[in-house]
Amino acid sequence: MTYHNIKVSVDHKIATVLVDRPKKLNALNKETIAELGSVIDNLCGDESVRVIVLTGAGNKAFVAGADIAEFAHFSKEEGQELSQRGQEELFDKIELCPKIVIAAINGYALGGGLELAMASHIRIASENALMGLPEVSLGVIPGYGGTQRLPKLIGKGRAMELISTASMIDAEKACDWGLVNSVVPQDQLMDTAIKLALKISSNSSTAISNAIDAINAFDQEGGFQREIENFGHCFETEDFKEGTQAFLNKRKPNFG
Ligand code: CAA
Repeated sequence: MTYHNIKVSVDHKIATVLVDRPKKLNALNKETIAELGSVIDNLCGDESVRVIVLTGAGNKAFVAGADIAEFAHFSKEEGQELSQRGQEELFDKIELCPKIVIAAINGYALGGGLELAMASHIRIASENALMGLPEVSLGVIPGYGGTQRLPKLIGKGRAMELISTASMIDAEKACDWGLVNSVVPQDQLMDTAIKLALKISSNSSTAISNAIDAINAFDQEGGFQREIENFGHCFETEDFKEGTQAFLNKRKPNFG
């Protein structure tokens, strides 16, 4: 697939995916969602990739939301389809990806942009980042998982407030609320994300995929059972042999 709205590069087993529509503040139109969904599929299945870093082009926006111009005239059915397809084609895929996805939030992360970051496993923000779900100011609600993922990250009360006021919060407050893991100066954002990705990539990829699956089940019935099963799966892997033998032989593991 040729991409028109995203750029992808891979270095040292770390894939960087850049949403590249800076003139529209990287807003997610249908084509961009499809391209991102396709690249996530490819990278999830690519053995040469360990971690995925998502970011936005330019220094102003990560992603300023779904493309408003594209859905302004939609009917109820078209609105539902937009939400459902977006969730299935992209947002759920990111959350379920067996490799860690890091959102490097380099500016505005609004609406679908914040939802993209929230579907990712880890979020790092630059100091200038502003985040919010402004959908109710447009007469609509978050449709790419925002009403479900935001309360999980920051609690129901704060999610109610952020969504109903359509306000933006800065990176410091987002970190204080647990919406992002850390905040760094903008010129250090990508280095920080890549360093974190490299640290993750030195560990067992099979163990990490089992951990992601179990952590994703943390708020579901059966989460503890999922942990038990995935813990057991790990014992059948080469990585488990390598990791434990390396420890017992006082050497560093090599997970290939
Ligand atoms: N959709 C479409 N175009 C967008 C956009 C969006 N979400 N966000 C920005 N743009 C476009 C602007 O229309 C403008 O294009 P033109 O130059 O062609 O006019 C360009 O990007 C630059 O934007 P601004 O001139 O508005 O830049 P600014 O610095 O004055 O303001 C901003 C920045 C505060 C982020 C403002 O652009 C803004 O409020 N954007 C919309 C944010 C928003 O409401 N996002 C939620 C979308 S709905 C959604 O995401 C639904 C869902 O959950 C599925």
